[in-house]
Amino acid sequence: IAKYPAGRQQSAVMPLLILAQRQNQGWVPRAAIETIATLLDMPFIRVYEVATFYTMYNLAPVGKYHIQCCTTTPCWLRGSDDVVKACKDELGINFGEVTKDGKFGLSEVECLGACVNAPMIEITTAEWDKYFEDLDYSSTRKLIKLLKKDDLPKEGSQSGRCSSEPLS
Ligand code: FES
Repeated sequence: IAKYPAGRQQSAVMPLLILAQRQNQGWVPRAAIETIATLLDMPFIRVYEVATFYTMYNLAPVGKYHIQCCTTTPCWLRGSDDVVKACKDELGINFGEVTKDGKFGLSEVECLGACVNAPMIEITTAEWDKYFEDLDYSSTRKLIKLLKKDDLPKEGSQSGRCSSEPLS
């Protein structure tokens, strides 16, 4: 809060929501929204509006590993349907659902700004957010199988290329 200029402390609302989310296994409960409103001297509804506007805030449990599949046009043209199918096949859940053991949640999201390595997914946990790119059906299933064992897959391109350099 102290990082913002005098009279602009309410600008801390977004980072505070993220902190609350990280402290609560990846989702923001109503109690946290109320606490943030009190801390920043804002009406509850204004903090709630921010929390519901952005898809980066989750208002219900999303599992230990929250898998977010980008299905916007560049990812879709490059095969996001296969990536989505791999997630659903491997996890047995649909978008908006969490596996029975609470380990995985699955969401559909709009462009995450990594179209150059499409198709891609973002996975978030309480500790980290990582992008996994250049995916196809089998690499997506392989990635989820690793997470089932709590092994951390290599982030970034899964095709072997360095960042977004040409494959050749
Ligand atoms: Fe998927 Fe941009 S369209 S990252």
